[in-house]
Amino acid sequence: MMRLIRQVLASAALIGAATAAHAADKVCKLAITGNDLMQYDKQELVVAADCTSVELTLTHSGKLPKEAMGHNWVLVNTPDLSAVASSGMTAGPANNYVDKADKKVLASTKLVGGGESATVTFATSALKKGGAYSYECTMPGHNSVMHGVLKFG
Ligand code: CU
Repeated sequence: MMRLIRQVLASAALIGAATAAHAADKVCKLAITGNDLMQYDKQELVVAADCTSVELTLTHSGKLPKEAMGHNWVLVNTPDLSAVASSGMTAGPANNYVDKADKKVLASTKLVGGGESATVTFATSALKKGGAYSYECTMPGHNSVMHGVLKFG
């Protein structure tokens, strides 16, 4: 009887350790592409509820330079889409069209041109489980076409 209890306790401890390691960190990778026709290839991105951070890579599959057809990826609360596009325009190309001081920016990549890519990593702790957010490209004139929804959980 004692031996059985000891075995049960030992396996419970093992399960506990495995759960703790799993809960510690889970980096989830996302990928999105922008092209020379001012389009993202995805209108929706989904982040699973157990992801503790997201590593998003934006790839520009086109050939045009970033001065002509640059793209970035900026995550915001949906009602802030226009405000963030606007503050980005003011920040200008030297700042990748992102105002780093704008608290409405939840995450952002730099601006990329044809053949380039950029990665941003952000914690999901700032996101609400079951929440829906929006992403956009803040290159002037792009956000009306280049935007989508990111769901968490
Ligand atoms: Cu763009």
